[in-house]
Amino acid sequence: MNPHKARELAVLLPGWEIEAIEAEELPEEDGETFYDNALAKARFGRLAGPPDAWAIGEDSGLEVEGLGGRPGIRSARYAGGDATDEENVRKLLGELAGVTGDGRRARYVSELVSLSPGLEEFRGTGTLAGRIVDEPRGSEGFGYDPVFVPDGEERTVAELGDAWKAERSHRAIAAGELRKSVCSAAEER
Ligand code: IMP
Repeated sequence: MNPHKARELAVLLPGWEIEAIEAEELPEEDGETFYDNALAKARFGRLAGPPDAWAIGEDSGLEVEGLGGRPGIRSARYAGGDATDEENVRKLLGELAGVTGDGRRARYVSELVSLSPGLEEFRGTGTLAGRIVDEPRGSEGFGYDPVFVPDGEERTVAELGDAWKAERSHRAIAAGELRKSVCSAAEER
């Protein structure tokens, strides 16, 4: 898993003792949706881990209105297979050159899927709406955070910082939903 995402999830799911699998070890992301890819990662983790361990898969990305929803599930590889965050951001700003107004509207999506040792499936989904600005600003977060300003804010996510993300991000919303669905299933037993 991308180490930035692993760090965020450790904060968002305290007490879950998450052990991340290196991104290079994971199967190729060939699903058509964030959910498909998150489920494939969870299945892989379930088989790779000890028989009594739970597994979590996360897939996330950025959807931009003026680009017909791109980069979407290809967000990590937007500028190429080994693209850095900076290269992806540069490509995004290049594609959006001359695009104004609603064309710069965007949303982050996070899908979390957890599998119990008996393969019972739990899910959490989160989105964060905002817009893409012209120039990168800020140093926290990762990926497209330096160019993403959430609705109701003036600063980019990279300026708002990790504490803001832990409360309000797409991943925070997805983790809250996932935690709730796992806990309510446990209470029913
Ligand atoms: P994944 O590891 O295949 O799910 O790729 C997710 C990609 O989406 C990341 O590499 C980023 O480019 C982008 N992304 C997902 N979540 C965030 C976020 O919280 N901030 C910035 N970029 C994100």
